[in-house]
Amino acid sequence: MTDIVKKVLTYYQENGRDLPWRHTTNPYEILVSEIMLQQTQVDRVIPYYERFLKKYPDFKALSKAKKPTLLQLWQGLGYNIRILRLQRLAQEVTTNNNAKLPDTEEELLKLPGIGPYTAHAVLAFAHNKPVPVMDTNIRRVLIHELKLKESISDEEIKKIALKIIPKNKSCIWHNALMDYGAMEKTARKTGIESLSKQSKFEGSDRQIRGIIVRKLLKEKSISLTTLQEELKRENLTQILEKMIRDNVIKKKNNIITFGTL
Ligand code: ADE
Repeated sequence: MTDIVKKVLTYYQENGRDLPWRHTTNPYEILVSEIMLQQTQVDRVIPYYERFLKKYPDFKALSKAKKPTLLQLWQGLGYNIRILRLQRLAQEVTTNNNAKLPDTEEELLKLPGIGPYTAHAVLAFAHNKPVPVMDTNIRRVLIHELKLKESISDEEIKKIALKIIPKNKSCIWHNALMDYGAMEKTARKTGIESLSKQSKFEGSDRQIRGIIVRKLLKEKSISLTTLQEELKRENLTQILEKMIRDNVIKKKNNIITFGTL
């Protein structure tokens, strides 16, 4: 075993976090955790993850959920499009794949909302397949421990990451890398910056989208005029257009709804 593998696995044995999605290899449950964790911190995700799986234990249950109920359950996680895409995926696999996720990268990538990161995360955490899972924490750990250039391309670092995955231990290895990065080799301690930082929430379009969803959950429909009066937002039209494209809302005769009335 290489030095980094020994070091990180030992760290994990002694300090690893006990997280609910680490008790399962069910691909649906792993996928739900990964979608929630994409833009949201671990501590915040845990209660949502547990509530969500109780209500929607599998793709079939999720495929039949009502949009307002889903958005209500997602309140506080943000980036609502994630849950709507996940439902579309659930409907797709329920109709075409016997309510199961495929287990190859190629097939996974065809599904809505699954990009290279999520595909590899599902393959590693649900199937223990030796594919590199590359998120900000793991990237930082590899750069720091292997003394790579901070500017290394995603493709290059994945090649290196692939070579060091310990045999038959992809799942545990990637959990270990994530914990080592999140707790031991933080951005602050290593001075290695994230490639992408989440932009400021206060005053953002994202904040306005959240306000609109919460209003609709309460009031079911809102007129465009009322929204504009309340929000006084110059780019309201663009914000609404994006929400319509993302299938979060519908607009008809200047009345906005979830489209499920
Ligand atoms: N972030 C994304 N996936 C994760 C996982 N499996 N454990 C901890 N943090 C994560």
